Amino acid sequence: MITPFTETSSDAARIPLSVPEFRGNEWRYLKECLDAGWVSSAGPFVERFEEEIARTVGAKQAVAVVNGTAGLHVALQVVGVKPEDEVLVSDLTFVAPVNAVRYCQAHPVLIDADPKNWQMDAAKLEQFLSAECEVREEACFNKRTGRRVRAILPVHILGLACEMDRIVGLAWRFHLKVVEDAAEGIGVRYRGKHVGTFGDVGVFSFNGNKIVTCGGGGMLVSDDNQAARYARYLTTQAKDDDLEYLHNEVGYNYRLTNIQAAVGLAQMERLGEFLARKRAIAEAYRSGFIGLDGITPMPAPESTEPTYWLYTVLLREGTKLTDRQAVIQRLRAQGIGARGLWHPIHSLPPYRQEQAFEIEQADRLYERAVSLPSSVGLTALDLDRCIRSLVEALEKG
Ligand SMILES: Cc1ncc(COP(=O)(O)O)c(C=O)c1O
Repeated sequence: MITPFTETSSDAARIPLSVPEFRGNEWRYLKECLDAGWVSSAGPFVERFEEEIARTVGAKQAVAVVNGTAGLHVALQVVGVKPEDEVLVSDLTFVAPVNAVRYCQAHPVLIDADPKNWQMDAAKLEQFLSAECEVREEACFNKRTGRRVRAILPVHILGLACEMDRIVGLAWRFHLKVVEDAAEGIGVRYRGKHVGTFGDVGVFSFNGNKIVTCGGGGMLVSDDNQAARYARYLTTQAKDDDLEYLHNEVGYNYRLTNIQAAVGLAQMERLGEFLARKRAIAEAYRSGFIGLDGITPMPAPESTEPTYWLYTVLLREGTKLTDRQAVIQRLRAQGIGARGLWHPIHSLPPYRQEQAFEIEQADRLYERAVSLPSSVGLTALDLDRCIRSLVEALEKG
């Protein structure tokens, strides 16, 4: 039986947005690493962590990497993304997956968010592919740029899921590969299947603010043995021969270390408990905000088993960006570590010149969204304070 909250406040002064909790075997496993001298990527925890992730998400293969961004870079190469290709990617996301497209010298085409679930809009994706692209000899081309469209990169944000059945169907129809950014998605299921396992390759992050953390870390998962083998090869400097140091391709030093994997494995042992707490936090917020004028709780689509990695609400429709920013400032002044969503990618300086397909909702969501403290260690009093502070911050506006 899990007790989600204690009655006492963890820190009366400040409630951070998302901090990890290390109360399991982290210290013990770290000591084992140091005692045995296995600190680099050759140690046994790396394999154990890979096996644990593969088992949890239901993938045949898992390859541990230094972080989610590196995992996305390699995943795109594994599915064959080449310079001057195009990749269809969510506009409302943390920037990492879009940067990964540019690391491959390919171009992102930005797809709007769906107001129903805040994820890549599968209907707009279909419109883009049907109206703006053509298939020739089992390859998809963007009619406007003439470039080959190689892959779709849907990003599962905030502990919810993209409509993967529709996205995978479109990929099949238009001869595209799918790399899922499941960086924020550990524990999220869509129609009963874990996110990250619908496409050709999925990528998780174990950054310090994720539900499970290694400090920094990532995991690439796939059911395709060959893809996983290639990912392993690229992430270990593309070494073909251990004795003679033969490298037939440009590789990367992207493998996770034993020390990071030790922490990750200990965290995974508590995943069930962490997920239960995240869901209880979401329920506390939902019931605190329900019926309040001017606050829309996070969506809960029927198809999705969410984790609510970062609990986020929308302010009243038509809220101006400056008003949303003022609400966050008021919360911060009260010691509540709130923040807005990421600036939509299409208007960030490095990406302004890239194609963006009929973006409107990503901007609206960005203008209205406020993410609230969501750490697994939040107490009942902390949550109460967060809810009251948001209500007060809106009253003062
Ligand atoms: C959606 C998304 N994609 C990719 C990343 C990158 O992961 P990492 O920080 O492990 O490189 C993150 C977060 O960190 C993320 O939130």
